[in-house]
Amino acid sequence: METIRVNLGSRSYDIRVQVAGLAAIGNWAAGFPIEKKVMVVADENTAFLFGRQAKDSLQQAGFSVTMAVVPAGEASKSLSQADVLYAQAIVAGLDRNCAIMALGGGVVGDLAGFVAATYLRGVPFLQVPTTLLSQVDSSVGGKVAVNHHLGKNLIGAFYQPMGVLIDPQTLQSLPPREFASGMAEVIKYGLIFDADFFAKLSDAAAAVQNRDPQQLAGIVADCCRMKAAVVERDEQDLGERMLLNFGHTAGHAIETAGEFSRFTHGEAVALGMLVAGRLSELTGMLPQGTTDEIRRVGSAYGLPLSADGLDAAELISHMGTDKKRAAGQLRWVLLERIGQATLRSGIATESIEKALREILPIE
Ligand SMILES: NC(=O)c1ccc[n+]([C@@H]2O[C@H](COP(=O)([O-])OP(=O)(O)OC[C@H]3O[C@@H](n4cnc5c(N)ncnc54)[C@H](O)[C@@H]3O)[C@@H](O)[C@H]2O)c1
Ligand SMILES: [Zn+2]
Repeated sequence: METIRVNLGSRSYDIRVQVAGLAAIGNWAAGFPIEKKVMVVADENTAFLFGRQAKDSLQQAGFSVTMAVVPAGEASKSLSQADVLYAQAIVAGLDRNCAIMALGGGVVGDLAGFVAATYLRGVPFLQVPTTLLSQVDSSVGGKVAVNHHLGKNLIGAFYQPMGVLIDPQTLQSLPPREFASGMAEVIKYGLIFDADFFAKLSDAAAAVQNRDPQQLAGIVADCCRMKAAVVERDEQDLGERMLLNFGHTAGHAIETAGEFSRFTHGEAVALGMLVAGRLSELTGMLPQGTTDEIRRVGSAYGLPLSADGLDAAELISHMGTDKKRAAGQLRWVLLERIGQATLRSGIATESIEKALREILPIE
């Protein structure tokens, strides 16, 4: 078992990474200064896979448990779904000292966290992420949100959980495409923060792809440590935390061009990291050939290396509406070397186009 402390003053909390930790979820929850009444939010899949075990363990630890199950998928990250959860919390008699627990991927985590942040002006929030993406990314850092029909994640808050429990064993049932998508974010951490970690991902690809729980525990804990360190220095996403957007400027544009159905977020980010890598080479700050190394590791984890049928002008226009844009100027996260990223603005559109054309064989 590994524990990663996230130091945020009075909002500090621990992330516990524990193989088979789900079986001990009741004892874990009982360790917090909360009432013995909890609402567990899961989606249909995670309720089926883990609901019974979680409920039994929580009840054995003395909790009365309300299970709130939402449809699986991004559409559940909505104000109307939040409203359904508010009603369930009110009917269950949840008061200010009762926790809301997310048991699922990033959709469940963002939604349950948003409800926890707003119900009664905020109740304790516990996170039990079950996808690779949510274990290494969305459960760390306290961003919670629902979508608006005019855009993703537009209604939300910074709301830190009271604790996070990660059981890498839950990843055994994750569909291959979801697993690969999470790996894109894992690879991202190596590229922007830690060359040794990137090398480890390259060496351990076979074991990780076989979902060896101990390997996964080590990798997930490393990612949480890296993200926690950035969040501690820049909780509100005003500076260094933006480095986590590596691969996301082009990635979001690719995701949008695919109408959020052709590519998963992670697949789009994997392509976006190749674009940002190539752009870094074109601007002369990254040694030529580094993008090939990124491509090699992405391929070992089943991530896409190119995509046809996309349009460069359309992608650039999607970047122009990227909400991460600062003061009208697109800010790119570029690489100086593997393990070292930097923010740059004022990149020539021609260079962006060239990088897009070279990575994606597009018009
Ligand atoms: N808050 C943040 O900082 C942050 C960061 C990144 C992404 N996000 C958000 O996260 C969301 C995406 O998260 P996600 O990729 O986890 O998607 P998700 O929650 O939709 O999960 C993907 C699918 O996997 C299923 N699933 C979950 N755990 C499983 C398991 N162990 N075995 C089998 N199936 C399982 C789910 O039911 C779902 O069908 C997006 O809404 C995104 O905006 C938030
Ligand atoms: Zn991402």
